Amino acid sequence: MCSIIGCISKSEASGPIVNALKKMEYRGYDSVGVATSSNSKISVKKGIGKVNQVNGNLKLDSMPGNVAIGHTRWATHGKVNDVNAHPHLCADSSIAVVHNGIIENYDKIRKELEKEGIVFKSDTDTEVIPNLLGQNRRQTNDIIETVIRTCSKLKGQYSFVAMMEDGSLVAARYHEPLIVGIGENEYFVSSDVLGFIEKTDQAIYLENEQFVVLNDKGYQIYDFNGKPAPFKIVTVPKQFGNVDKGTFEHFTRKEIFEQPTTVFNTADNINNDWELFANIMKEASNVYITGSGTSYHTALVAKYLLPIYTPISPEAIMSSEMNYSKNRLRKDSLLIAISQSGESADVLEAVSIAKNRDLRVISVINSLTSSLERESDASVGLYCGPEIGVAATKSFTSQLVTFYKIIETLSDNTFDFRSIGKSIVQVLDEEPSIMTIAKELKKASGIYILGRGIHYPIAKEGALKIKELSYMHAEGFPTGELKHGPLALMDESSYVIVINPKDETYEDSLSNIQEVKARGAKVVGISNIKHDIYDHWIKIPTMEPEILYPLVEIIPFQLLAYYTALENGADPDYPRNLAKCVTVK
Ligand code: AGP
Repeated sequence: MCSIIGCISKSEASGPIVNALKKMEYRGYDSVGVATSSNSKISVKKGIGKVNQVNGNLKLDSMPGNVAIGHTRWATHGKVNDVNAHPHLCADSSIAVVHNGIIENYDKIRKELEKEGIVFKSDTDTEVIPNLLGQNRRQTNDIIETVIRTCSKLKGQYSFVAMMEDGSLVAARYHEPLIVGIGENEYFVSSDVLGFIEKTDQAIYLENEQFVVLNDKGYQIYDFNGKPAPFKIVTVPKQFGNVDKGTFEHFTRKEIFEQPTTVFNTADNINNDWELFANIMKEASNVYITGSGTSYHTALVAKYLLPIYTPISPEAIMSSEMNYSKNRLRKDSLLIAISQSGESADVLEAVSIAKNRDLRVISVINSLTSSLERESDASVGLYCGPEIGVAATKSFTSQLVTFYKIIETLSDNTFDFRSIGKSIVQVLDEEPSIMTIAKELKKASGIYILGRGIHYPIAKEGALKIKELSYMHAEGFPTGELKHGPLALMDESSYVIVINPKDETYEDSLSNIQEVKARGAKVVGISNIKHDIYDHWIKIPTMEPEILYPLVEIIPFQLLAYYTALENGADPDYPRNLAKCVTVK
């Protein structure tokens, strides 16, 4: 989603702003812009494309002024074009704004402002913000009152940074993240700590309905009623700044190859209080698990896993469906929210729905300084380091590990996570043959991924990886469902990937594979056992106990998706139309 950043410095601010935008590229965007303030005049430059490209064309990092704001836009309202890119100015160009989120009532506000003679230049919802700020500032001549009035008018979810022509900044938070960075002789305000972590690790996480006023003398934080708000300066953990690709060509491949270590880091981290987390689960009469995308697939795996070893039999509810499933939430229950970012709007909304029904909420998060952590009664962290590739890879295996850890805490079972790491290495060693399969896969008319039981959520996750990275149609479904419909799709140009380790699902799945082979489809088998029926066999190690298979069988899909993306000329780190952190509904 959009990234916003503002900086007040003792030296030129545009360089650090462009650098910050590069660090936040992973969030997903289509256009870039910077505004600076110098000698009480605001300059704006913006355009579509990647940060390096737009900076190369427009020299964003040479714009004069010690105060600057910057933005990467992920289009919601209005096409991807230069005019709709941020920053946006108010009518007399005395205020520039960058914004993340959605202003739901922008059309009404825009019409009201147009009646007063204000001419809008873009199709965005954002442009109402600088114009409202301008109007309120004219009427009140007071910056605090200006922000209060403006925020009380806006509906939706947003955070914005506004730069005044005198070089002061105001930034407000309403259901979108906003963090103030306190550096030496400089201040930052950003949607992501990566925007300033290279400069300072001292940060204030603004609470919802708070705003900050910054100038070269300091900063003040207020709530939306204008009362000074208490705040805490925290030290951001160093790992948040580790966003280097090292020798890898893409973050995605680097993150896939980190998994032998990250699964162990999650399991072994001493900061997680597994006892507390598991006890809260034990006390609840019903447990619901929610998440979006990959995190929802973890919820589905947990739904299969937990009842095998514990008295808990959870229900998995997709976060975006929570509003329509709320009548299923029973009293004295617990919601476990899973999110890599801790900022997904759908997940936060699911949490808010559950809290309104008096459910307790605990969470599984990678970004432990996120909104979800603040909304939760308890959290465990993934500690797998920042995940930059838009496709969730290492965060998925780490999320799975948290549920194996919960099983360890609630039962007599133990798992050897170091040896699981070694098993993942064995699958990563299959990379050369997976590259060969990717070359063939790119010719497929459709990719169908099959798995029974606990392998079914992995089939769905595998399909999601292939869709988002390679832009090819892939569908994951329970193997047994083939004959109930999907079999009609099978022909010589179809590819079927079956997750088929030697466990209770093995024999039944083999029979189903005969049916697709008979229709001419090509079959890739992911299994610890070779079989002649497979056109290609991707070997995975034998796992003991069998319920650990999900941790190794997802790896071939991550690599297949990565290499098929390269075959199709797609950028695996930043797939089109997608954002790492989906902060709009
Ligand atoms: C996964 O590859 C996706 N990029 C996406 O489905 C993601 O898992 C989803 O948006 C949820 O994100 P979260 O875990 O940060 O809440």
